[in-house]
Amino acid sequence: MRVVLGVSGGIAAYKACSVLRLLTEAGHQVSVVPTAAALRFVGAPTWEALSGRPVSDQVWDDVPGVPHVRLGQQADLVLVVPATADLLARASHGIADDLLTNTLLTARCPVVLAPAMHTEMWTHPATVANVATLRERGTVVVEPASGRLTGADTGPGRLPEPEDIVRAALAAVATRTGQPQGRPGLLTGRHVVVTAGGTREPLDPVRFLGNRSSGKQGYAVAVAAAQRGARVSLLSCNVEIPPPPGCDVTAVETARELEAAVHRVLAEDAVDVVVMTAAVADFRPARYAGTKIKKTHDAVDDGAPVVELVRNPDILAGLVERRGGARTPYLVGFAAETGDEDGDVLAHARAKLERKGCDLLVANEVGVDTTFGKDTSTVHLLRPGSGEVVTVGPTGKDRIAEALWDVVGPALAVEAPGPVGDQP
Ligand code: CTP
Repeated sequence: MRVVLGVSGGIAAYKACSVLRLLTEAGHQVSVVPTAAALRFVGAPTWEALSGRPVSDQVWDDVPGVPHVRLGQQADLVLVVPATADLLARASHGIADDLLTNTLLTARCPVVLAPAMHTEMWTHPATVANVATLRERGTVVVEPASGRLTGADTGPGRLPEPEDIVRAALAAVATRTGQPQGRPGLLTGRHVVVTAGGTREPLDPVRFLGNRSSGKQGYAVAVAAAQRGARVSLLSCNVEIPPPPGCDVTAVETARELEAAVHRVLAEDAVDVVVMTAAVADFRPARYAGTKIKKTHDAVDDGAPVVELVRNPDILAGLVERRGGARTPYLVGFAAETGDEDGDVLAHARAKLERKGCDLLVANEVGVDTTFGKDTSTVHLLRPGSGEVVTVGPTGKDRIAEALWDVVGPALAVEAPGPVGDQP
């Protein structure tokens, strides 16, 4: 694939070097087109060495080759990393005052812009309007990540990781052509619901019954789906991770709120996959004390209350029961398991897959020091009717998410024909 990698003048220009490497290592022919300001951050020799091609920022070099028209016309993808507020403004107004903005005007292939700037610039009404205009015209403007910015400040505006940018760009090409350019399991046109984190069941205004789920795995599943082109509704239970780019996040607290949120999304829209990553409390206090439960100061009676619990709905089981409609979602369960005298993790997982009746069960072994809150994990992927177990890890939760979609994506194409493949 012929790629034009535009680079505009922000400090994140150095991260475009990694994007360039990822693209060239994947076999793409990349021409780098920096702006003059980008060359103040990273010089032309770096781009030329990494791309193996000459680099220019202006239209006055190689005039007989008409690069200001040729580059855009011949490209299969134009990707700009980082896209500064100034570049977004020039692009949205059709200004063509250097080689990159000329290329943007002549490109008829997918154009993907990965913005990076300070939060104030990203949220300024001018930038918001420019981004809206570009998106209306079909340009893909990747949501910036939230996190540490150049100075001491943090917030939305951070350049997403190079791997994420490349995936988003390849997904944009695949959407246009209908041809997967990236990993198997592309989710273009699919609507995915991911639940993440752990529910909290309030006992009184200051206390709750909760669990140790951090939400990292669910967020990784959501991000990976978005990068493969899915529309993602992320239902987030008490997670302290910034909202991931490209996901529609709804925060809920309790199991019953989560159940209602899942059913709301299902009622509003066709959903292709529900991934129940969330650790849902099986029980909640039977009664909620409207005021703080106090201990008594009686030396004889220690006054410790007995907390009565009642069952919460099993959300996944409820979804399995509702099966049979025209567009039944593919259901993925997660199971945090420990081995015990009744069997090891896999034995418990097989029994749970049978009991839950979902289409895929992702089982991981948990203990005090493993999985919860960590960035890595080991999981086993089990499907009904198949003795085959795919074991992934120990590895990063992002790779586990990719492995999950590598299984679910192709299964969707076979089991639930939807927009994928129907597109021109
Ligand atoms: N789950 C759910 N609703 C519940 C409990 C769990 O939807 N009330 C979902 C979880 O999100 C997960 C799967 O069911 O995808 C398995 O969760 P787990 O707690 O391991 O299952 P349980 O059936 O509660 O089994 P156990 O008896 O081992 O707790």
